[in-house]
Amino acid sequence: MGNGNREQWASRFGFILAAAGSAVGLGNIWRFSYVAGDQGGAAFVLIYLIAIILIGYPLMVTEIAIGRKTQQSPIGAFKSLAPDTPWWLTGALGVLAAFVILSFYSVVAGWSLAYTFKAIGGFVPGLDYETIFVEHITDVFAPIFWHALFMILTLLVITAGVVKGIQRWAKILMPMLFVILIALVLRGLTLEGASAGVSFYLSPDFGEITGETFLTALGQAFFTLSLGMGVLITYGSYLPKRENVSDSAGWVIGMDTMVALLAGFAIFPAVFSLGFDPAGGVGLAFITLPAVFAEMPWGGFFGFLFFLLLSIAALTSAFSLLEVVVAWLIDEKGWDRIKASLLVGFIIFLLGLPPTLGYSLLSHVNILGMDILDTYDFISGNILLPLGGLLTSIFAGYVWKSKNVIAEANNPKGKIIFGEWYGYIIQYLLPLAIGAVLIWGIVDTFF
Ligand code: PFF
Ligand code: NA
Repeated sequence: MGNGNREQWASRFGFILAAAGSAVGLGNIWRFSYVAGDQGGAAFVLIYLIAIILIGYPLMVTEIAIGRKTQQSPIGAFKSLAPDTPWWLTGALGVLAAFVILSFYSVVAGWSLAYTFKAIGGFVPGLDYETIFVEHITDVFAPIFWHALFMILTLLVITAGVVKGIQRWAKILMPMLFVILIALVLRGLTLEGASAGVSFYLSPDFGEITGETFLTALGQAFFTLSLGMGVLITYGSYLPKRENVSDSAGWVIGMDTMVALLAGFAIFPAVFSLGFDPAGGVGLAFITLPAVFAEMPWGGFFGFLFFLLLSIAALTSAFSLLEVVVAWLIDEKGWDRIKASLLVGFIIFLLGLPPTLGYSLLSHVNILGMDILDTYDFISGNILLPLGGLLTSIFAGYVWKSKNVIAEANNPKGKIIFGEWYGYIIQYLLPLAIGAVLIWGIVDTFF
């Protein structure tokens, strides 16, 4: 529907930056650093890298190929490759996941915006940053204000469209993000005693690996690459036929991985140098790091840069989450972009209220031992994304068939050639590995 005037990225570079913008987010900086810290550092990072290459890369190519082939957003894409079957529900699952993820992602992104402003006032040594964080999130109005502001910024870009909105802002924000990240890495590495952090990060201790390490690494690979919910089907549907899919995906993976690895170099040397604990958990970015910045020369300035980086990264990921839903309404329901964006943005703002208030008015709500925000995170990250990835790989391997994915991935001819090996990966490795994560995640939580 409406394919005649479907917008397209102006170049491969436009696609790569937009898709890397989606991939690079809170997952690379906030989530990656706390899971790597909790799972013991280097050994985890190594397994994570293997998961990215063996599982993340083939699945990313598969999703982009589905979108590029059909020129449709997820629901329409499955409908056009398997008409009159229930496979379109895989796309519907993606749309649902987009609502759930963006509504809590925006809340955390709102904290990050708020901290960007707090940093301007400077981080001062000796303050209790745990209390400060708790005071921030248990307030009723401030987190709602920052969540709303973040959604408004996202809407401003999405209403402007694929090229004038997403691509344009990815081209401005992604280079900024890289520059800030390099500055933070240089600051971290030049602190006295930084080498203890570097060795925590680089010398694997395989004694610390458990089953949980593998599963956490795979889950992180999924989340960080924006896989399993149709973001890459949607972005792939705007990729011109003249661009090669497997090469483009290689660039996106490379950028996302580089940002995650560099974020580790920005964070762990500083944490060790100033004597903090790397296993700071979820609070590593908002509690441990402000305390670290407070102790460091020029800390207020670098703290400001850090939270600006985190906010920018979150923003370009939010574009992709909102775009999945908006593209569905445009493609399938014939809605106008502005109307679709405003309505969806408003619904997501409302859906974000329960997790925002989960630390204040709704703090008594507890679902399986989790607060509301953790519940949203759990449902989307541990259930909806792996389920979407599982269904997508079964679909590609057994319904659409690997030879068709291979043809789309290699067309037009590029540097990275997909061969028969892809068939084995998509038919066996992906369903088994993803199925294991899914089942483990559920069993671990409910039993
Ligand atoms: N990849 C993003 C990150 O690492 O923060 C998170 C994300 C964005 C997940 C979009 C899923 C998605 F569809
Ligand atoms: Na990421």
